[in-house]
Amino acid sequence: MFNRELFIRTLSTRTLGREFRYLPRTGSTNDQLRKICTEENLPGGTLLLTDHQTDGRGRGKRRWYSGKEMNLTFSLLLFPQLSLEDSGFISLMCGVAVVDAIRAGGCSSTGLKWPNDILISGRKLGGILTERFKTDNGPAVIVGIGINVNEDRLQMPGDLQTATASLFTATGRIWRRETLLAAVLGALESYDPARPREILKAWESYCLHVGKTINFHYGSARLRGQFEGLTDRGHARIRVRGQERIFSSGEIEFDDFNN
Ligand code: BTN
Repeated sequence: MFNRELFIRTLSTRTLGREFRYLPRTGSTNDQLRKICTEENLPGGTLLLTDHQTDGRGRGKRRWYSGKEMNLTFSLLLFPQLSLEDSGFISLMCGVAVVDAIRAGGCSSTGLKWPNDILISGRKLGGILTERFKTDNGPAVIVGIGINVNEDRLQMPGDLQTATASLFTATGRIWRRETLLAAVLGALESYDPARPREILKAWESYCLHVGKTINFHYGSARLRGQFEGLTDRGHARIRVRGQERIFSSGEIEFDDFNN
């Protein structure tokens, strides 16, 4: 079970995670945090974590699987002072913070796939689902983060075993979820979405496919091109047949796992 005392003792943030809600089991932490928001006046930085997420959601209507008491599945409530266009930075910033924390914990080959998949050796280690909505306290963002921490490959559902990794499968050791979560929040608080340059630079330095040829899906279209980096807004710059194109959403696919 998640050790709340250890987490609080390790936490060094000013606001993120200071309001901490724990549920042994819930459908989706994003859905549950949003529900609590409609019932209570929660402060920005509120964290909701579960040890057993039974109906986890991913981007693009995908599911997010996470084994009981082995991983990190949590959501954060933020009230960013940003325009809708710029709030995409929040997801990039969270991806950077997760990689900061994992690398600081000793797994230096972890990196990012646009927009915010956390990967290791071409396999998915974590994902981020950001959702915006209105509250009485202004526009809010819920950032849901899933990180595969101590799950063994054989414990994962069969169809995920080849495409998914955990910190345990990558490093061969058990990671303390409490200190990792505290490190993610500490890293996150060190960034400011109002200083986007810093975030974009860090993101590009962690990106695993800058300069590489990738397959790209957006809507029902598919193309192949070279990923060149990010625009000032965090959108993808992809060179297709000699011409640079900009995408605010879409999905990158690699030709092989070692890309
Ligand atoms: C993705 O890569 O598709 C995003 C996955 C996001 C999963 C997390 S786990 C905690 C939070 N609650 C959810 O239902 N989803 C996010």
